[in-house]
Amino acid sequence: MKSIASAPAKIILFGEHFIVYGGKAILCSIDKRITVESELTKTENIEIESQLGKLKISKSYSYRNVDSVFRPLVYLAQRMLEKFKSDSGVKIRVNSEVPSGVGLGSSSACCVAAAGSIGGLFENQTKDEILKLAIDAERTIFENTSGADCTACTYGGILVYNKEDGQIKKLETMPKFELVVANSKIIHSTDKVVSMVKQFKNSKPEIFSSFCIQETNLIENALDAIKKNDLEKLGKLMSQNQEFLEKIGVSNDTLNTMISLAKGASYGAKITGAGDGGCIIAITDKSNIEKTLNMLGEKYECFSAKIDVVGLQ
Ligand code: PMV
Repeated sequence: MKSIASAPAKIILFGEHFIVYGGKAILCSIDKRITVESELTKTENIEIESQLGKLKISKSYSYRNVDSVFRPLVYLAQRMLEKFKSDSGVKIRVNSEVPSGVGLGSSSACCVAAAGSIGGLFENQTKDEILKLAIDAERTIFENTSGADCTACTYGGILVYNKEDGQIKKLETMPKFELVVANSKIIHSTDKVVSMVKQFKNSKPEIFSSFCIQETNLIENALDAIKKNDLEKLGKLMSQNQEFLEKIGVSNDTLNTMISLAKGASYGAKITGAGDGGCIIAITDKSNIEKTLNMLGEKYECFSAKIDVVGLQ
């Protein structure tokens, strides 16, 4: 028997970096998916195949020693085999529409889809149970993950993550925007960029704290604009958020060029995720999506993305 599950990628609409020091962030899942297919085998092995490579190991080999690309998958397989005292091996296939290492939550989407698929070989799980399992799997590579990315990939839609109380709330309203996502193809390390921002904060505490206050106000205004489907306002707020990100040093020349191009056609644009590479997003609707895609598409890989409302399937 095969067990198949898929989960969407995510972007950060507002609040990256400042969320590390409190406040809120607005996340949104998009219609690009990772699908994981798994089956039990009559072997002693865990086998994985994906666009990132192949792995075949004994199921008793510690997941801690596995390369980070495959570690969460091996962890999930071992955890379920142990829980159900199974004699089988597991074969896992991953198929991704999401570029990795560029801030679109590919590892979270993979953990959620894999938790659904591998767990589904053994039992019927609720989305809450799958989410818990996925966060445990992601912690094998990102010890301090907030779980917000995995939550977006599990439930879909637009989510507000509040750092103070750890609560993650799905918005009821569903604005009618489309996003254009453009990839700088510069692979970034979230940990490295987060450390850079920490250095900025330590060397200029007053300036950083004033950005945090401004970002908090900006996010309240953005939530209001989302509720009213006011795309012009949302775009302006996005571009303002980008200015803060530039000032704390997480943008670079390539990203700045991409953002100016996008701003020429869309309602507004910013980095999504850690920055220093990765992707930018631009907010559009029917009236300006083609023009935005054309402007960016001449030089950069880009695609349009709708909000995914389904989450894990
Ligand atoms: O690039 P991503 O998707 O890993 O985004 C990281 C978001 C940060 O705010 C920079 C870090 C964090 O843990 O919230």
